[in-house]
Amino acid sequence: MTSPAHVAIIMDGNGRWAKSRGLPRVAGHRAGVEALRNVVRAAPQLGISFLTVYAFSSENWSRPKSEVSDLMGLLKLFIRRDLAELHRNGVRVRVIGDRESLQPDIRGLLEEAEALTLANAGLTLVIAFNYGSRDEIVRAARKLAQAALRGEIEPHMIEAEDIAGALDTAGIPDPDLVIRTSGELRLSNFLLWQAAYSELVFVPCYWPDFGGDNLAEALRDFAGRERRFGGLSPEEAVTPALAR
Ligand code: IPE
Ligand code: IPE
Ligand code: MG
Repeated sequence: MTSPAHVAIIMDGNGRWAKSRGLPRVAGHRAGVEALRNVVRAAPQLGISFLTVYAFSSENWSRPKSEVSDLMGLLKLFIRRDLAELHRNGVRVRVIGDRESLQPDIRGLLEEAEALTLANAGLTLVIAFNYGSRDEIVRAARKLAQAALRGEIEPHMIEAEDIAGALDTAGIPDPDLVIRTSGELRLSNFLLWQAAYSELVFVPCYWPDFGGDNLAEALRDFAGRERRFGGLSPEEAVTPALAR
């Protein structure tokens, strides 16, 4: 079975998971961190090289202050508690999203995680935090416009690769597979540029219930897909002798 090199996950459904148990939403987020740990451990064994997880969107600031602060706290706890293990396991951490508007202590932790694991050659764990595709594309457009103003690039020479290279995901291959849990059927501003030809798998279970088995199942689903990238399937691409 060919495994996707890059799997990206929209970890959704923490709140509903908690609600279905009569628990506060934060309990769902805590359980969600546990699910994340399990999936990060399972990913390399399933042949995945890049795992991107959507942890906090640029639109999630519109949630109640207390929930935003719970989510910030959980990220800090995750980095503090898990960084050593991630490093031991050869995981390289990358963070995508706008860091400017994050609190200095969170920024510091994210930078520490990236710096410590920079030379690791195992799984690349990409954490999308304060991430939104539109915001990412806006920031990339500004970078290119500034480079043009400085005379470093000619606007008419800008190619898709230049845009890709100005995104937070520069150097990371596009996701082959995007998984969303909780039954919602949308992308919610996640990797809109990068997922142009990704296969999408929507899983009904809430994120805290998602584990290695669910990931393996999504990979089986992926293996049965035919990716055409706008071309034809191999059989159709061969010109039939009779039609010639
Ligand atoms: C995903 O779970 C986690 C984040 C968005 C941070 P939700 O918090 O969106 O859970 P639901 O969708 O309300 O169930
Ligand atoms: C997407 O989930 C963001 C993350 C998983 C971090 P949301 O729960 O915020 O998305 P919507 O509001 O249902 O589209
Ligand atoms: Mg949600």
